[in-house]
Amino acid sequence: MKDEIPECQPTPSPKWGERLGALRKVPPVFKMVWTSAPGVVIGSLLVRLIVSVIPVAVLWVTRVIIDSIFHHISYRAALPKFFWWLVVLEFVLVAMATSLGRVIEFCDTVLADKFTRSISTQTMEHASRLDLTRYEDPLFYDKMERARAQGTDRVMMIQMTGRLIQEFITTVSFAAAIIFFSPLLLAFLIVCVVPAFLGETHFAFLGYSLNFAQTPARRQMEYLRVLGGSRESAKELKLFGLGPFLIGRYKKLSDTLHLQNVGLAKRKLIFGTLLTFLGTLGYYGAYGFVIHQTVIGLLTMGQLILLTGAIAGASANIQGLFTTFSGIADQSLFLTDLVEFFSVQPQILSKPGALLAPRPIRQGIEFKNVSFAYPGSRRKVLNGINLKMEPGERLALVGANGQGKTTIVKLLTRLYDPTEGQILLDGVDLREYNLDDLWKEIGVIFQDFMHYEMTASENIAVGRIEDANNQFRIRGAAIKSFAESVIQKLPKGYDQLLGCRFEGGMDLSGGEWQKIALARAHLRDAQLLVLDEPTAALDARSEHDVFQRFAELTHGKMAMLISHRMSTVRMVDRILVLENGGIAEQGHHDQLVKDGGLYAEMFELQAASYR
Ligand SMILES: Nc1ncnc2c1ncn2[C@@H]1O[C@H](COP(=O)(O)OP(=O)(O)O)[C@@H](O)[C@H]1O
Ligand SMILES: [Mg+2]
Repeated sequence: MKDEIPECQPTPSPKWGERLGALRKVPPVFKMVWTSAPGVVIGSLLVRLIVSVIPVAVLWVTRVIIDSIFHHISYRAALPKFFWWLVVLEFVLVAMATSLGRVIEFCDTVLADKFTRSISTQTMEHASRLDLTRYEDPLFYDKMERARAQGTDRVMMIQMTGRLIQEFITTVSFAAAIIFFSPLLLAFLIVCVVPAFLGETHFAFLGYSLNFAQTPARRQMEYLRVLGGSRESAKELKLFGLGPFLIGRYKKLSDTLHLQNVGLAKRKLIFGTLLTFLGTLGYYGAYGFVIHQTVIGLLTMGQLILLTGAIAGASANIQGLFTTFSGIADQSLFLTDLVEFFSVQPQILSKPGALLAPRPIRQGIEFKNVSFAYPGSRRKVLNGINLKMEPGERLALVGANGQGKTTIVKLLTRLYDPTEGQILLDGVDLREYNLDDLWKEIGVIFQDFMHYEMTASENIAVGRIEDANNQFRIRGAAIKSFAESVIQKLPKGYDQLLGCRFEGGMDLSGGEWQKIALARAHLRDAQLLVLDEPTAALDARSEHDVFQRFAELTHGKMAMLISHRMSTVRMVDRILVLENGGIAEQGHHDQLVKDGGLYAEMFELQAASYR
């Protein structure tokens, strides 16, 4: 863990171009919305259309009612014949508005649900296609996390857009009523509201920038929070007395963020209040003007009611319109990561018309001058590796930590492509093969294999998910890896939920997990099996048994074993000793010991510790 606290200074003042530019990200998202539920979108728009003109219609009816009453009282004029029907009409309009409001709410809920569902699955699908590199790059990982959250949070934006359309039509209808009497009045109202809108977007953008800058700190806080309350860390935290240390570090980070957030909120309070005041001023200016016109007899009472209602409605709606719009602009800033995330394409792909992997493998695998540096680093982890693996041959890779053993496995399985050189399968570059088909022929158990919080049976079935319901084959694999005896001790046997995350789960020891993981390799019907130190937590005796069994069962298959225990690797056909990015020695155990090189030295060291 790094010691310094990530800096999160608010980014400099946002530019208008940037703010509007972000709106370009909106259409692709609306496309996603549309495809997730076209019927609901149309329905909701139609209803909003009706609802949006009801307010002005109500005002108009009120105006006619008031003027009729006024004439009736002042000049003893008869009430119009339809007078009471006007009252009924107004009631119907208002009742319609409330019930249609409910319909809109319903449509929004359905749409939000459909959209969230479709965006979540799309995000998962896209993430599963990305290269491993992306996951190992912390910056991209941040982006991915943000995109994940952003996708589902953008539901609000969709509802806002519906509201925007509605507010727009309502405003236009009110504006039409105002223009009918005085166009100048409308212009005046708009001028008073625009500053509030600009202020609103300005702060929205600042909020986003701050949020963005705080992401690394938040990630650290999340890490500290999880660390402070997780089962894995509890033992060490208690004994080392790390609680106060972690809490102190968490507090320091959260204090920094708090100060930044409050700073922004204060500025928003001051400027926001000023700008809203301007809006209110505009409203009352217009109000005074209309009252004056009525007093001097230029407007009737009904018109006064209509206009004041329209001014109040219009200024509320114009303000709402701007706020909603800036809300959308603000939300669209958050889409950047989502849209960028979806635009990142995997580099490691099957070519069009790629070959199917050979079955059976006839010539084996060959590394030709393979060098490799991890992306973003110049250091060559592997340097000019040449290595041949015959069909049916079992190899072992040995070497100290960090010599590149796992990297070789990642290249062999095309999780990465070599920086230089080629890896050939039956004389053809790995890049020429269809990826999914290639992966079908390879079974790998990594040293950091997954503990799935699923049943024991499913934990084995992940090795060949097509066999998830084939208890016979799953059990067969478990017997081969010695996992059967572990599973028999579980209360629910193969149906026992493993891990502690969910209720009723049972955790296993490291060695027991490894036996379960090894069953995956036995279940997989692959031509090349790779075990990358998945047995480190087994005691020497168990590991020996497991490998012995593995060697017997994979007889005639290609296998690559990585282990630190010499007693284990001696049973393979050929041992490769990796050092400084190259192959330092190779040969059979006896030969290597006789040569008295690096391997002999390592062997001697281990043997001595057992004497
Ligand atoms: N994702 C990665 N990004 C950058 N460097 C890495 C990454 N994974 C491993 N390395 C570096 O590559 C070297 C070889 O690692 P690895 O193949 O895991 O070694 P081994 O399996 O022999 O212990 C190490 O020095 C390690 O620091
Ligand atoms: Mg390794």
